[in-house]
Amino acid sequence: MPNDTPRSAQRSSPAPIELFKDGRSLPNAARFWNAAGGGRDAFHIDRRLFYDLDAKVQDLISRERKARTLSDASFAALVDANRQFVHRASAYLAGQLGIDQYIDLGVGLPVDDHIHRIVQSINPDAKVLYVDNDPMAVRKAQGLFESSNSHIRVVDADIFAPKELLHHEEVASFLDWSRPVAIFATATLHEHPDGTTEQLAEIMRTYIDHASPDSCTVISHFFDPELPDWNDAIQTIQNELHSGLGRGTFRTRAEIEALFPNQRLLAPGVVPCLHWPTSADDQTIWIQTCIAGGVGQKCPPPI
Ligand SMILES: C[S@@+](CC[C@H](N)C(=O)[O-])C[C@H]1O[C@@H](n2cnc3c(N)ncnc32)[C@H](O)[C@@H]1O
Repeated sequence: MPNDTPRSAQRSSPAPIELFKDGRSLPNAARFWNAAGGGRDAFHIDRRLFYDLDAKVQDLISRERKARTLSDASFAALVDANRQFVHRASAYLAGQLGIDQYIDLGVGLPVDDHIHRIVQSINPDAKVLYVDNDPMAVRKAQGLFESSNSHIRVVDADIFAPKELLHHEEVASFLDWSRPVAIFATATLHEHPDGTTEQLAEIMRTYIDHASPDSCTVISHFFDPELPDWNDAIQTIQNELHSGLGRGTFRTRAEIEALFPNQRLLAPGVVPCLHWPTSADDQTIWIQTCIAGGVGQKCPPPI
């Protein structure tokens, strides 16, 4: 019998244990994402979760023949699709829209070029403010980026408490909120341990309402394409993420579009990350389409 309950409402309950913020005994999201992206900042426990998840997904996919090869079915391909989207969106905002101020909500532990490298290669004066509440992510960003680049700041704060973050001294003074700002929330909103789509939309509304007209939000999010053939695979990934990390929720296109309140979605809208801004060739592999992204822009007030 088909299950009509939206996937975001089918999540398993949050992990029963509190994650130790600085501990090695439990995997955490920043390090897991780094492990899946091929980085060197993860601990054994994070890699273990990545390998276990991959084994389950590859088993499922090879049985259903949804990928050409096993590496095509790796979660690493999804992380890579997200990274490519972040790079293309950064280049678009700096190059086409001329935005020179960026706030990245949840910088993580990037394995290669991050937002500042792309936007500052177009405009060396572009400012980037990175936010995270993972101690390793904050330390790495401070050591690698902030210490050598006066146009970068790093703030240790909760991105899901937007009012507090927007009043943070550094956030209020480093960026000029009377001019356009690009607000990145890539691969972070699906990390809210128990937020509903409405709660997340409200969080994003607080950010965009604080920003001037022509400001943009850039969002990527685990994507449920609502195709019956994919249900098992997506449910498996979501269950593994929830039991390992206590987070990782897939949302449908309509649910992700709802995360762009008070904005117009720039073409092509919310699409699999590899298809933004134009469709990649037909080589996109199925797991890469399980993360979608889009860019919204705040419209000027009516005259
Ligand atoms: C999966 S990583 C994504 C990293 C990067 N944005 C990207 O697109 O590759 C998610 C990041 O969000 C951070 N994060 C999750 N919840 C957070 C919160 N409440 N406040 C601040 N950072 C948070 C995690 O620590 C992690 O570094």
